[in-house]
Amino acid sequence: MQLIVGNWKMHGRLASVALVEALVRAGPIPGARLLVCPPATLVARFAETARQSHVGIGAQDCHAEPEGAFTGDIAAEMLADAGATHVIVGHSERRTGHGETDPVVHAKAAAAYRAGLTPIVCVGETLAEREAGATLAILGRQLEGSLPGAGPLVVAYEPVWAIGTGRTPTPAEVAEVHGFIAARVPAGTPVLYGGSVRPDNARALLAVPNVGGALVGGASLTPRDFLAIASAAPGSAP
Ligand code: 13P
Repeated sequence: MQLIVGNWKMHGRLASVALVEALVRAGPIPGARLLVCPPATLVARFAETARQSHVGIGAQDCHAEPEGAFTGDIAAEMLADAGATHVIVGHSERRTGHGETDPVVHAKAAAAYRAGLTPIVCVGETLAEREAGATLAILGRQLEGSLPGAGPLVVAYEPVWAIGTGRTPTPAEVAEVHGFIAARVPAGTPVLYGGSVRPDNARALLAVPNVGGALVGGASLTPRDFLAIASAAPGSAP
């Protein structure tokens, strides 16, 4: 069973609940679990709509502290209270846009555990790092610095240069990285691939050894595309 996660980023309004309704109506897909991570404003509404269904709801970020004088921030406990089961931490857009370092990501992942959420910890190299042959060294450092202690965990490999660009690594490149990550996380940890996953490349990417699912950005905003990606998981209907 693979985990197909939709990261809506800064998209969506209350009316977008119709997209979650469409996913619920479509019914379960045998080889895939679906998780939608909308902006924080929509978590409670979406969780209410997806309650008792095969669709899970997660969030995109959390603060490390459970409460306090942190204007604009949202605690993992608040996301759990709103109905989230997972939270993405360390996405490259947070690492670069908000200066999040490995220790910050580690603290956020630990906060997710404290709140009973499963963290989805993102790692990935830039194009310059890949071209310099530093991919595995960078990923090793990010994993060592970001991963929390024991607890349910999802890791997402998202090459920064593949996000929103239409470019993806080759299956062989994905296999190399996912094998490297799988050797450094507890057995059974899903390792998702993210970066320009589309209906037309999902089957090849999801079939790579040690790929446990996908973290989907743009294509997750269209239920038809998101469902097509989930249906490409090995073990799903053809
Ligand atoms: P795209 O699927 O739009 O490339 O985004 C990937 C991503 O960043 C998911 O977290």
